Amino acid sequence: MNTSELQLLDMKASPDDRARALLGQMTLTEKIGQMSQVEAGHGHPPDYLGERLRAGLIGSVINNVNVETVNELQRIAVEESRLGIPLLVGRDVIHGFKTIFPIPLGQAATWNPSIAKEGARVAALEAARSGVNWTFAPMVDISRDPRWGRIAESFGECVLLTSSMGAAMVEGFQGESLADTGSIAACAKHFAGYGAVESGRDYATTNVPDTKLRNVYFRPFHAAVDAGVSTLMTSFSDLNGVPATGNSYILEDVLRGEWSFDGFVVSDWDSVRQLQIHGLTEDDRESALVAATAGVDMEMAGDAYSNHLQLHVEEGSVSEAHIDAAVMRILRIKFELGLFENPYTDPGQLPAFADKRAMKAARDSALQSVVLLKNQNGILPLSEKKLDSIAVIGPLADAPYEQLGTWIFDGDESLSVTPLRAIRDLVGSEVDIQYVRAMENSRSRFNEEFYAAVYAARAADAVLLFLGEESILSGEAHSRADINLPGDQVELVRRVRSAGKPVVAVILAGRPLTLSNIIEEVDAILYAWHPGTMGGPAIADLVFGREVPSGKLPVTFPRLVGQIPIYYSQKNGGKPPSADNVVHIDDIDTFAPQTSLGMSAFHLDTCYTPLFPFGHGLSYTTFEYNNMRVSEAEIPLGGTIAISTELTNCGDSEAEEVVQLYTRDLVASITRPVKELKGFTRVRLSPGESKTVTFELHTSDLAFFGRDGKRTVEPGLFHVWIGGSSDTDHRAEFRIIQSQD
Ligand code: BGC
Repeated sequence: MNTSELQLLDMKASPDDRARALLGQMTLTEKIGQMSQVEAGHGHPPDYLGERLRAGLIGSVINNVNVETVNELQRIAVEESRLGIPLLVGRDVIHGFKTIFPIPLGQAATWNPSIAKEGARVAALEAARSGVNWTFAPMVDISRDPRWGRIAESFGECVLLTSSMGAAMVEGFQGESLADTGSIAACAKHFAGYGAVESGRDYATTNVPDTKLRNVYFRPFHAAVDAGVSTLMTSFSDLNGVPATGNSYILEDVLRGEWSFDGFVVSDWDSVRQLQIHGLTEDDRESALVAATAGVDMEMAGDAYSNHLQLHVEEGSVSEAHIDAAVMRILRIKFELGLFENPYTDPGQLPAFADKRAMKAARDSALQSVVLLKNQNGILPLSEKKLDSIAVIGPLADAPYEQLGTWIFDGDESLSVTPLRAIRDLVGSEVDIQYVRAMENSRSRFNEEFYAAVYAARAADAVLLFLGEESILSGEAHSRADINLPGDQVELVRRVRSAGKPVVAVILAGRPLTLSNIIEEVDAILYAWHPGTMGGPAIADLVFGREVPSGKLPVTFPRLVGQIPIYYSQKNGGKPPSADNVVHIDDIDTFAPQTSLGMSAFHLDTCYTPLFPFGHGLSYTTFEYNNMRVSEAEIPLGGTIAISTELTNCGDSEAEEVVQLYTRDLVASITRPVKELKGFTRVRLSPGESKTVTFELHTSDLAFFGRDGKRTVEPGLFHVWIGGSSDTDHRAEFRIIQSQD
């Protein structure tokens, strides 16, 4: 045995040394094999991949979660290929595996990174039980367009919230150590700018100026890299004319050059070959060259690398050193995962699916994700003691599959506890529950059951209307141009309203919907996203006051689709709208038309504000913010400032508030947003209790990327707010000054 063979076997050697030792023994064909991921879904004959595995032509498989098959694939790779390199087994474990958590957008509404981390940990344990060792999550694309179906998979519009939730998920999936049983490699996706697709059409073009890439879209990826994410996935989209999968600026210059990322980059599904469809390359051969030289280490589910890369190296258009660097990055992750020691999965070593911990985590997550948007006259919580009968109406009250949301390949629908079931369990025989589904699904049109719904509403003391979108209406390639409640749901609301009973709408959806057309027709709205397996019990607990809502919007809710993009961190512009410089179309004087209609940035036919701002979410109690203080009026560059407020629970329920800190840099060398979230924390208070909440900011937290692409903090005046939503006006200020030394 030579030294490098010895080093390969030495478990005490670093993953890097072991990878290098292994690389030294590989042929070019075997190296390119490691750069190829192959679809290995169910339904293929058992020996489907055998020959290629034995020849060392496959580095990773995707989409097989049958543990016996996965073990067999590993066995062939490990025992029957020349070098015995184990496989990465990839799967989209997005918001749970068997036990499903709220969609990521719902998890973001918890504003609780530890909830996201625990959800990801549980998902990792369940996925690992099936032989999966690599997930394609978290998705950290900033999403400011609710038409985009993939907003469901995102953490919403805000840089800090997305970065915090994404990093927490990375920690949950990867655990303390990748080598621990139950840890799986994470993948931050889709690098970069995918959320900015034109008009929210999935896969469409994106045009994002460099300062915005750096100040907004890149930052959650950088946070994921800092959290130790093993892999990144490129986006399908065209970024400023160069599709992400062929974009060396983002992959080589920024990701590897500036951020020193040492994990590996995988393409999206067949996105290497799609470079030709984009019009960047002539054929698959050129696509392989462009993607590999741009920095894509592994091709997902395509054969451009396996068919063409070797020839490119032999012809000298790609150096073998470049290939070696890519293969090193892949092998290093395999060593870090401990796959060379433990390539096989023994399900007995891992917790059972949907065990107590999983169900508790799913319930906690759902509970904190629900946002109380409106609660007129404190109609919620309902009291089962004061009601004799409730009408439960709507297509999403008892739809076990739909409440799980998008991207739940392995989710077990039979575990779902629906709101109807949970409500029945909670109220027992004390309250008569009349259930009318009224619509087959959210897209259905008026039907005979509308009469039955009105009849049930008339006979009841209160109505719970379960509305929204079923899961197929959001997710990949499921964008919408109209984000009203689909089908005839608005008509259903109006008819039910005509019964004259209090109406509480519970909305299950994969995106913010435009609710202007029902907002006045209902007394309360609980926005539950797609809440997952334990959505039902969480909703029932909130409706009947066993728990108090504490979710906050991770994304702005527009009044009308035409307001999009509308988000809290917009720029001020030169003509900002305000209550005294806007005119409504109905107020234009027909007989003496004005020439000036306010001259500010607004639409004539809707209000200039959103329906609900980012960060909004009511409680059954009210919180008061008083005595805002900054520790210093002036801080030198490099210094720290403490900003505090007194928070009081003025109601009579114990409750949690998500306290939010925003800043504005008033004058800078590039214009800065009117508000940027800089901190948040959950605070639990008993009735009447007050607490001082303090945030610390270092001046580097106020940095931005300037015209030269460099990070900078500029002295000057800053406004700072602390409140329960982005539209808070509870403000103080401070100034950053040049440091004295
Ligand atoms: C999606 C990715 C996903 C991949 C594998 C693609 O279509 O864009 O997010 O990870 O498929 O399923």
